[in-house]
Amino acid sequence: MAERPDFRAPKGTQDVLPPESARWEALLGTFAGVAHTFGYGLVQSPMLEDIGVFQRLGEGTDVVTKEMYDFLDKGGRHVALRPEGTAPVARAFVEHRPDVPWKVWYATPAFRYERPQAGRSRQHHQVGVECIGTPDPDADVEVIALGRTFLSALGLRRWRLVLNSMGTPADRRAYAEVLQAWLRGRAGDLAPDDVDKVESHPLRVLDSKRPETRAVLAGAPRMSDHLDAASVAHAERVQAGLRSLGIEYEVDETLVRGLDYYTHTLFEFQSDALGNAQSALGGGGRYDGLIEQLGGPSTPGVGFGIGIERVLLTCDAEGVFQVPERRVDCFVVDVTGGELATELAQRLRLADVATDRAFDARSMKAQMKAAAKSGARVAAIVGDDERAGGTVTIRDLETGEQSSVAATDVVLQVRKVLDR
Ligand code: HAM
Repeated sequence: MAERPDFRAPKGTQDVLPPESARWEALLGTFAGVAHTFGYGLVQSPMLEDIGVFQRLGEGTDVVTKEMYDFLDKGGRHVALRPEGTAPVARAFVEHRPDVPWKVWYATPAFRYERPQAGRSRQHHQVGVECIGTPDPDADVEVIALGRTFLSALGLRRWRLVLNSMGTPADRRAYAEVLQAWLRGRAGDLAPDDVDKVESHPLRVLDSKRPETRAVLAGAPRMSDHLDAASVAHAERVQAGLRSLGIEYEVDETLVRGLDYYTHTLFEFQSDALGNAQSALGGGGRYDGLIEQLGGPSTPGVGFGIGIERVLLTCDAEGVFQVPERRVDCFVVDVTGGELATELAQRLRLADVATDRAFDARSMKAQMKAAAKSGARVAAIVGDDERAGGTVTIRDLETGEQSSVAATDVVLQVRKVLDR
């Protein structure tokens, strides 16, 4: 006998099924609502881009060098599945040149070939926003406020906003060189895993979690000493804006984040609920050089991405955002063959009554069981007597009360029970 196929979701990916998916629906609805109240419109762009779009994220970043899902398509084009949401939005901006500020939000899968563990998968999902076309620090404050409003709307409390400033690309480069020279002299004291980073990506040494490295870093040159006056003024204005909104934050000069495009503001929403390795629920910042690198005019931008899976894990840890299972209002039970169920269910659905029904001409007992399982408040029951008399029995599944109504009155009568 031929072996039965045994397919599973690819390693590091997950299926999200009902009833868990009800939380996804609610989360996406919440994010869409918050983004709308801040004046952001939905952007949808392809899951695939020319690989060059993502190579601009930084030759030294793992996302680009190790984790990209890239391949040649049938036409020989080198494309990649998006590892994140910002570069595709920036590419779309360059292509369409919309009026600025261009304020958009998205909900998207993102693909990174990482070692899967709790809170880290190969396909994860993000909700995010980008505000493109203004260098105004008030835009940084706006996107942070949007992120906070979203997390609060979910009911999350135990997270913190961590802030840092990278300054201009020139500030960042100059500081990276100073730090690299300083670290070279101390490579022997760093954790072995961090030694290579001194050459490839010195700034990433700063966010090492290893105790040996952290001890060395205590005396390292500080980023804030390498910012020019305009960068300092930008950072101060962002902080003043956050304070004026009552948004608490901590400044952490070791916050660098995994993508290379950041300038000036960098931030993360962090939670201990996830365990140390994956403390970031979401993060973002300014990327004033990215649009130009993608072939556009010099255009600043700021935004964030928040990981849906991590947010839901954090909600579990805090016991919040427990969305009730999606239920129908009415269940049609038809033991006369099913044609009447088709017709009745359609009438109810068109009248906006969420309705389900049984298939396969099952027994009354089986259909009543299915009605109870569906969570519906009302059953609309058709047996031979009802069929002959042009009636339907309406049963309140909560109280057990029932009445016989004219088939033409079903929608009205079902509504009456639902309104009780
Ligand atoms: P990111 O920090 O790489 O930033 O990702 C944003 C969030 O996505 C993370 O904080 C985390 O919650 C989630 N995430 C990332 N990788 C994984 C993974 N492997 N498994 C599960 N969740 C993950 C960005 O992607 C930037 N595009 C954010 C941004 C927007 N910056 C400016 N605008």
